[in-house]
Formats: sequence, C-alpha cells, structure tokens
Amino acid sequence: MTLILGIETSCDDTSIAVVDEHGHVLACKTASQVEVHEGYGGIYPEFASRAHVAAIIPTLEATLKAASVTPDQLSAIGVTRGPGLIGSLLVGIHTASGLGVGWGLPTYGINHLRGHLRSALLEGGKVNYPAIVLLASGGHTLLAYMKDAASMELVGTTRDDSVGEAYDKVARMLNLGFPGGPIIDQVAKTGKATTRFPRPMLGKGFEFSFSGLKSSVRRHLEQNPEAHVPDVAASFVAACMDVLIGKCKAAIEQYRPASLIVVGGVSASPQLRAGMATLCASKGVHLALPPQQWSTDNGAMIAMATLDYLGTTPDMEVNPNLPIGTL
Ligand code: KG4
Ligand code: ZN
Repeated sequence: MTLILGIETSCDDTSIAVVDEHGHVLACKTASQVEVHEGYGGIYPEFASRAHVAAIIPTLEATLKAASVTPDQLSAIGVTRGPGLIGSLLVGIHTASGLGVGWGLPTYGINHLRGHLRSALLEGGKVNYPAIVLLASGGHTLLAYMKDAASMELVGTTRDDSVGEAYDKVARMLNLGFPGGPIIDQVAKTGKATTRFPRPMLGKGFEFSFSGLKSSVRRHLEQNPEAHVPDVAASFVAACMDVLIGKCKAAIEQYRPASLIVVGGVSASPQLRAGMATLCASKGVHLALPPQQWSTDNGAMIAMATLDYLGTTPDMEVNPNLPIGTL
C-alpha cells in the first residue's frame, strides 16, 4: 500500500492528511486560523506564518494518530510549494524537508492548484478526458482545457478579483464576517434574488471579471441602506452562479469535453454544485467535483496530487506565484 502524507500551509489553514493510492483519506486534520484573522476582515500574512509554526507539529501528530499510521508506514511526503503566501509556504516546506530527512522519505514540493485539481479524485472520484476545469477559489478563477491528465491549456482567467475574493468582500460589506463564502451561502438561502446585479463578461469569451459586480453591490447598499441583507446576498450569489455556470456551458459547447471538473473553495457552494449538476446532465457530460469537505484548502488534496509526482525529481523551491501548468 502507498500512503502519502500531504501538508498544506499556503494560506490560513494548517492542514495535514494521510491518503492512500486510491484517494481514500485515512485522516485529515486542519488547524483553522479564523480566530487569528477575523478581526482584520482578511488574512494578515505575518500572523498566518506564526500560526502555522505553532500548529504544524500538533496537527501532524493528530493526523498520524487519527490515521493509525506510523512514519515508517509512509511512502512519501507532499507539501505545497506555491502559489500562496511566502511566509506560510516556507513553514510547510521547511517542516516537510526536515521530516523527509529524519524519516528517510522522498519529499515533493506540490503545486497547490494541482492539489485542487486532483481533489476531484478523492474518495473514488473519476475524471474522463478531455476535460474542462473550472478552478474557483480565493486566489484564482480560471478555466482550463485538459486533453489528458498530463496536459493543461489555460482557456480563460480573471482580469481582476477572483470569485472567492468577491464573496469575501461582499460578506464584509454586509457585515457577515469572515470567511465570507460559507456565510453568504447560508444567508442567501433565506433571501430572494430581487436585485439584478450585472453578470460581468457573460457571453463574451472565457475571461472573468468580478470587481464590477462587487462595486455594484457596494453602490446598491449605499443607495438602499435599508436593503434586506439575505436578498442582497441571494442576488449576488445568483449573479456569480450565472457567470460561472454560463462560462462552463460555453466551454462545454466549444471544447466538447468528456468531464467538467469544478474545484477550489467556491466548489463547496451547494448552489454551484447543484447548478453544475443540472448543466452537465443537460449536456451529457460527466461532472467531477471534490467531496464537499475537500473543496477548500486541505492536506488531502495535496497528498492526492503527490501521487502524480512520485518518481519525478523533487522541487522544494517555494514559488508564491507558481502557475497552474507547472508541477
Ligand atoms: O481554495 P480555497 O480554500 O483557498 C484558495 O486557494 O484561495 O478557497 C477559498 C475561497 C474563499 O474566498 C471563500 O470565500 C470561498 O473559497 N468559499 C466559498 C465557500 N466556501 C469557501 N464560496 C462559496 N461558497 C462556499 N460554501
Ligand atoms: Zn486553495
């Protein structure tokens, strides 16, 4: 049996998992930093790295214990080397390097975006090729075409904010707190999409733009200080869904993929999952989604991606701007 230890510290969660070669997650433990950052309305990088330093060894011990695995049973270690916050990445990379030397294990620097991509294979997930990928997270919103598992051609990306960033900023405007994505989803469920916010770039190629949508929400709140918050949240979510689902529909029509892969933190959204399921059913395309709990950053997806790196020359160089096509 191949057992991989995956370590993710690119942003604000210290997450460590043990995953087997079939994508079964034996254990995944995550130390959240929500309490560290919530007073700032966003992530404070220097506090993030310090919190990783404090959390990483206890999280490792908790993961191995929950998985009932000892270091000698592991086959390899994978750790995020980018993209992400440099200080946070360095904590993961240096810890993993030390463990690799100490335990005599091959240790691979993993592309965080490839981690998201491979999250769709966890717990029995399948992908058929060619595939179209929508990666929608806090740091990225992009569409890519994969002829096969090894190739990746960028189809479109965002010109400004990512969709996750828009969720987080709108949550702040609505005083809903941090992190914004899950809270907006909850609140939107209790409201009605009564305001028609713009659908930026919909019907115009494969690029995205979310900063105009965010500004429209801000203007609407300035002009309607008594606005019903759940209705504003529902209207905002409706605009995001129309854009993300509309772009995927256009990509399916143009590229005729066998699978649509939807990954990244925003793929935790129940509205997005349901909308993509309807789209794929109507087009006869297989939908590949991560199990919902592995949509947001986690060690399990990094361990899963590590399976692609076994036997390659490890690259442990931290790169805060690592592009998606790079291993
Ligand atoms: O992939 P991720 O955990 O971190 C990055 O790599 O960026 O994505 C985080 C983003 C945040 O912007 C968050 O608001 C969004 O994913 N998110 C959600 C949900 N859960 C997290 N967005 C919509 N609905 C959710 N349930
Ligand atoms: Zn991520």
